Amino acid sequence: MKVLVFGSINIDLVFSVDHIVVPGETISSSALVKSAGGKGANQAAALAKAGMQVYMAGKIGQDGQFILTLLESYGVDTGRVLQYDGASGQALIQLDKNKQNSIILFSGGNGAITPEEIAPAMAGFSSGDMIVLQNEIVYLKEIMECAKKQGLRICLNPSPFNSKITELPLDIADIFFINEIEGAALAELPPGTPLDEVLEKLVARFPNAEIILTAGKDGAYYGYKDIRKKSDIVDVPVVDTVGAGDAFTGYFIAAREKQLPVDQALEAACKAAAITVSRKGALESIPHYREVGVY
Ligand code: RIB
Repeated sequence: MKVLVFGSINIDLVFSVDHIVVPGETISSSALVKSAGGKGANQAAALAKAGMQVYMAGKIGQDGQFILTLLESYGVDTGRVLQYDGASGQALIQLDKNKQNSIILFSGGNGAITPEEIAPAMAGFSSGDMIVLQNEIVYLKEIMECAKKQGLRICLNPSPFNSKITELPLDIADIFFINEIEGAALAELPPGTPLDEVLEKLVARFPNAEIILTAGKDGAYYGYKDIRKKSDIVDVPVVDTVGAGDAFTGYFIAAREKQLPVDQALEAACKAAAITVSRKGALESIPHYREVGVY
């Protein structure tokens, strides 16, 4: 199986701050680090580091070239990433002393993808292959429809969650990776609803899709038809949580593709996410499969 990640490529600007800035306040940061990120690029890196054959599609400006170089160093085929005469996507990340973060996105190249670019990006993929999508690029609906027409399995990480998500043809998705807040929103349940309840509602709403609900310190939940699984997190000292969800997504997909049962795939994904949070950065902090040690 080949995996196409059609998604965001961002330059992450990480400001280390005492606390997340509040309205009207100006604060200084103790460090500023520029690194490679974007949910799409992070997930492509995770899949490649997990041992998959990965292709990335998206759009960057000249300033994002270093991210392609990094992706290529992990074995990602970046031949479908287009360059344009503008800025790459940017993420302004505040990382506070408790390792909580808040992110402001500027879409840049992620918002400059055109409908005409969709079909060429999917050339060469067919039934049995998978497309991995997040909600940081434009024309997601058209991309999903084109992928379905070509027989690809659709993996959707509807993050960040906003009103655009409910306008998508969600019923054609085959796998959802969703966090607890997004899961409650998608299930139309109040925030804080017990996670097994959220999972049941999502499984009922999407009867043909696998649902993976990630819940931070509460671990990860899996639901598909009448199968239910749960995995605990691996507790490690947290340095930077950015990219942990993307590491989880890439590793779960890869582990399943390597024929691991769901419980072991959840375990692999939780381990990869734990190693990611124990290091600084997004894409670069995601471990290689030898470090994860589950296959
Ligand atoms: O999932 C983490 C990513 O979200 C960061 O790398 C940042 O670019 C934002 O897109």
